[in-house]
Amino acid sequence: MQIDSLCVKERPDNRTTPPHILPIYATSSFSFDDIDQGIGIFKNIESGHAYSRYANPTVDTTAQKIADLETHGLGFEATAVMTSSGMAAIATLMLGLLKQGDKVLSQGNLYGGTTELLVVTFAQFGVETIFTDLRDLNHVEDLLRQDPAIKMLYCETPANPTLACVDIRALSDLAHRYDAWCAIDNTFSTPLLQQPFAHGVDFIVHSTTKYLNGHGNSIAGIVIGRDKDLMRKNVWRAMKLVGANCSPFEAWLTYNGLKTLSLRMERHCSNALALAEFLEKQPKVARVNYPGLVSHPDHELAKRQLKGGFGGMLSFELRGGLEAGIACMNRIRFCALAPTLGDVDTLILHPASSSHLHVEKAVREQNGISDGLIRVSVGIENPADIIADMEQAVG
Ligand SMILES: Cc1ncc(COP(=O)(O)O)c(C=O)c1O
Repeated sequence: MQIDSLCVKERPDNRTTPPHILPIYATSSFSFDDIDQGIGIFKNIESGHAYSRYANPTVDTTAQKIADLETHGLGFEATAVMTSSGMAAIATLMLGLLKQGDKVLSQGNLYGGTTELLVVTFAQFGVETIFTDLRDLNHVEDLLRQDPAIKMLYCETPANPTLACVDIRALSDLAHRYDAWCAIDNTFSTPLLQQPFAHGVDFIVHSTTKYLNGHGNSIAGIVIGRDKDLMRKNVWRAMKLVGANCSPFEAWLTYNGLKTLSLRMERHCSNALALAEFLEKQPKVARVNYPGLVSHPDHELAKRQLKGGFGGMLSFELRGGLEAGIACMNRIRFCALAPTLGDVDTLILHPASSSHLHVEKAVREQNGISDGLIRVSVGIENPADIIADMEQAVG
């Protein structure tokens, strides 16, 4: 071999003992021993990797770990596909399963990006969404009975930012009675606090960007399904054809974050409960939305559906509307003003002036997002520091 070829050629790697920690497989393709192996892998009759848009060991290992968490103790295995973001996970799920003329039944208080994806993008392709109050089970059943085009019931519980809850078991039973799938966004709770498969759902999506990663340094998502065939033939195929695959680096960051998920969730929950109880006693606070508070309208349902805590998200409404909300945000010192959630540090958001700035005021208020509402993603710092900052900011 000439020296310039030596520069170019890949060297067989000199790995001896297996690495203790999952490596990042930063390779676009994988090489085959011979053509038969390649054909077998492409035909899906032989296991193996071919091309990282289809599958990658770092991504697959992370995906399977999250699937194992979602099915832990339930006695079956689920199949998972990681994607480039939470939005890509939701879009991939729907692209894989729905066709023109199908309808989705969902709630008005979804994550804003999901609502926009449904009402703008999917509507362009003839998939319509009916938004309703999924807590009204009689009405949900009427809609399903009257409209066989509804092929998917899609929910988020607890929902953003009011932490309203819906009954997952009742909704998945209803969906199945009328031949529809039930899918849920479990980003807020993580499998540590809520296992939707135990309540009958068919598909779970996550923005792993949030709690599963936990450190605010990656964007990724995942779809997890009970039915291996649907996952392979519909969801995985849509992911690979759209090219919504997760990068190995982002998956690796997520994989690292998962190791402390249990410890983090414990502290997120205890800190959020402490902050919620503190805020509830403040005269300038009109209302605190936290499912762990007895005053929350869905507290009893949350107690049945969530285990080991009520999550790290809360919101509260200040007396004094928009002006009071903005003044409070400007006084924050210790916590960070950042438009994400689930990181280890406490993050504050004022929906009326940021995430919901372009949502009509009447629509916003209908979903409990008033001018004075502040959302907190409670971190895992010492709770005294979080509470002290909130005390001086609320005034
Ligand atoms: C509940 C929920 N689902 C999905 C998403 C979208 O996730 P990503 O930003 O990873 O695309 C978000 C983002 O904030 C979210 O809060």
